[in-house]
Amino acid sequence: LLLLMPMLLLLLLLGAASSRCLHEETQKAMHLLSPPLSQHPSNARSYLTHPDSQAPQPLRIQTYHLGDPVSDGAWGSEGDGARGLTRALAAAEEAAQRLRGVLAVPPVQGPLLLSRDPEEYCHALWGDPNSPNYHRCSLLNPGYRGESCLGIKIPDAHLRGYALWPEQGPPQMVQQEGAGVQNADFLLYVRVAHTSKCHQEASVIAYAACCQLDSDDRPLAGTIVYCARHLASSRLSHDDIVMVTLHELLHALGFSSHLFKKWRDCPSGPAVRGHCSTRRQVMRPDERGHLLLTTPAVSHSLAKHLGVLGGSVGVPLEEEGPLSSHWEARLLQGSIMTAAFNGAQRTRLDPITLAAFEDSGWYHVNHRAAEELLWGQGSGLQFGLVTTCGTGSSDFFCTGSGLGCHFLHLDKGRCSTHPELEGCRMYMPLANGSECWKQENGLPAGAENLPGEIYHPQSRCFLANLTSQLLPGDEAVPPSQIPHEVGEELTGRCYLHQCTERGMYKVLVAGSHWTPCPPGKAIQIPRYSGLLLCPRGRLCRAKEDSNTIPSPPASLPTQDLLLQLSFQLAGPPGPSLGKVEREELTEAVLQALVSRGGTSRCYFRSPRMTTSLVFTVHMWRPPGCPGPAAGVLHRDLMLSLQRRPLEVYCRGASFTSEDSKLLVTSDQNHSATHLHLSLGLCLTLLILMGALGSMAYQKRATLRVGPLAPHHSQELQGTRGPAGEMREV
Ligand SMILES: *[C@@H]1O[C@H](CO)[C@@H](O)[C@H](O)[C@H]1NC(C)=O
Ligand SMILES: *[C@@H]1O[C@H](CO)[C@@H](O)[C@H](O)[C@H]1NC(C)=O
Repeated sequence: LLLLMPMLLLLLLLGAASSRCLHEETQKAMHLLSPPLSQHPSNARSYLTHPDSQAPQPLRIQTYHLGDPVSDGAWGSEGDGARGLTRALAAAEEAAQRLRGVLAVPPVQGPLLLSRDPEEYCHALWGDPNSPNYHRCSLLNPGYRGESCLGIKIPDAHLRGYALWPEQGPPQMVQQEGAGVQNADFLLYVRVAHTSKCHQEASVIAYAACCQLDSDDRPLAGTIVYCARHLASSRLSHDDIVMVTLHELLHALGFSSHLFKKWRDCPSGPAVRGHCSTRRQVMRPDERGHLLLTTPAVSHSLAKHLGVLGGSVGVPLEEEGPLSSHWEARLLQGSIMTAAFNGAQRTRLDPITLAAFEDSGWYHVNHRAAEELLWGQGSGLQFGLVTTCGTGSSDFFCTGSGLGCHFLHLDKGRCSTHPELEGCRMYMPLANGSECWKQENGLPAGAENLPGEIYHPQSRCFLANLTSQLLPGDEAVPPSQIPHEVGEELTGRCYLHQCTERGMYKVLVAGSHWTPCPPGKAIQIPRYSGLLLCPRGRLCRAKEDSNTIPSPPASLPTQDLLLQLSFQLAGPPGPSLGKVEREELTEAVLQALVSRGGTSRCYFRSPRMTTSLVFTVHMWRPPGCPGPAAGVLHRDLMLSLQRRPLEVYCRGASFTSEDSKLLVTSDQNHSATHLHLSLGLCLTLLILMGALGSMAYQKRATLRVGPLAPHHSQELQGTRGPAGEMREV
């Protein structure tokens, strides 16, 4: 369950203040079905052909939508319903795709078939132990309506058959075995509805539950219900819905108090069946009665995050009743598995959550896919306690109710609290227009902008009290508007930033020029009075974010592909840019791409820009670079650029990527004979260039890219049509 944070509640939802967890409640009501013993893999043929282990493969989540009559018109028109479903399905696909780069399992052999519950379809069993059909169904339940999963009726095609057994002899099939679902390790049923749960708690965006397990107790199927009214509203962006889906999917895949007790201890890894046992202890209460998740990877990961040696003893869970399926928000603010949703931009698929999936024993986890969690990093074991958060010992927390910056510096914030913080206060994004990275939050052109703010994808929040200083003799401004020399308080302001090297950056205030901003220092800006504080340890953190791109490796990576992304930029009319300007623009475009991809800079190398504003960059994932496979990022960026062009602000002008001129140049050729050639072979692409009514054709040589090893990235299969074109799956 994800709840909107209270500040959004105020906007969106009337009277919904409670933050009770629906996942807990829905999962509790679920009967978790496992295959009957006779279908355990120890008896199955596939097990015999793979006696001991199966190499983990990326988790294949198949999503299904089954016609769900849109209920009662309580929300919006039919058009809204269809739009909501489209949004939900797109988000579910994207979340599933993203998890392929994170979780791997020994793949399900053959089609995935779900189980039927004998207690549902069968009224009586043969009770004589000497009967050949002992314990088989002797009498059907006439009221049996099939299997369902959180309100979704599972189609017979996804289910095993069932039979009625005479006292002796062969069974009489009532329902044949379904065809099952090919290429699936998990089935996700998707439903968009205005359910009573949505109705009762207006802040609930979605909820999910797991309904079936495999013979190792790994979740096999679940349902996500999206509350229709949230999908019909434009408050939530596509990225928000993807993030909400990811949260719910992670519940259904194992991050749930009802599944914690089924987690397995697999010392030899999840691929080696038979060497695992159910974990003895997953949760325990601490001395104050707070529940902790105590498994080894999770504890180790938290200790590393807090910068303490020797390991922590467990990760606190949110207090939400006798059980809990979320991290404690005071400690892990910004993690995808806290109970309240605070927008996709402020949510991370963090290392501690991924550690939990490792501890489940069901998954092989790609820890490089983890996103850095800034909150509390290196703050020690006392961090995030109700007893320490108000003492001023950590600048992640605040006191009072002043204005400042949210800890990620993407937003302005007000010092406030919400129920999960249990009295602790932090700078929370304002209800309206606090995002520095949203251009539309800026003042309309021509409006007075004394603090010189710039709202832009590359803008960040800085504590400042800058005011335009009027130069002597500037008579265009009436004296009444000349700022008084009163010490204005520092507040959150939005200014453009640019990383220069690891941890270092410069800032741009409107009408001034780029000024270096040494972390921890207060700086002055030419033409402005007042100060700007440069935050320490919050911006341009990863070395990947800096300009210092490592030189390409001598030996090319075998585990990832080298891809190329190329597109045309449209800029203001005028003479073509000089070399220096193009370099600046190249850098700005690269930063915008990194920010759009939500990943590290380490994926990108050799960015360049032609005089005709064709931007090209190579992509691959070097070892140690956190995030999804380069192919996944490449595809996501392509789709994203098609949906929404990149907008870059450079030297006072705005440049936009043109999606019709997005050049797809990655190519996958599995033939080994081409491997040696693949890097040197150039293809010629024709780009249609339309300029001021005249058409020009430009020939461009682009690097032809192929897989660098015979075993190509599995996850790229199926995302690509026969012609090497990307398409959405
Ligand atoms: C947010 O602020 C803008 C500009 O001040 C205003 O037009 C808009 O109505 C506000 N929205 C809400 C929901 O308050
Ligand atoms: C800005 O803030 C600093 C530090 O609080 C203060 O000394 C200074 O007077 C303020 N300047 C302006 C112009 O408000």
